[in-house]
Amino acid sequence: MASRLPSLAISVFAFAMASGAAAAEISAARESELKTLLLHDCGACHGMTLRGGLGPPLEPARIAWQSEEVLAAVILDGVPGTPMPPWRFEIAPEEAVWLARLLKQGLPDES
Ligand code: HEC
Repeated sequence: MASRLPSLAISVFAFAMASGAAAAEISAARESELKTLLLHDCGACHGMTLRGGLGPPLEPARIAWQSEEVLAAVILDGVPGTPMPPWRFEIAPEEAVWLARLLKQGLPDES
């Protein structure tokens, strides 16, 4: 009987992870990590202030016509055949939606 417990614990954990992802709650600490990643890692191609470089500008006006879902999919899967890489291994789906929303709103320190 006791030998069944670890696998039960793992499936409860897996369920908690899955439902956590569905809730789309991102901690304040993770939000600030994501903002740093946006300016540093994404900024490496899209420009330090996200106004374009190797990658196109990610300013609100430029991406307004695209839905959050489409932008999040680009962030997660990249654009094949271009330098835009997939970020699925570093950014969770709900985090990509959060980033897409942030980009559409514009960063607070952006003029
Ligand atoms: C290695 C360079 C590179 C990095 C790093 C990079 N991108 Fe890109 N990104 C590109 C390129 C190039 C394109 C344009 C692809 C195309 O031609 O459609 C692009 C396109 C995009 C688009 C679509 C823009 C539009 O107008 O359709 C979004 C959104 C985007 N990137 C977000 C991000 C985010 C968020 C990150 C960081 C998590 C990131 N990118 C990191 C190169 C990069």
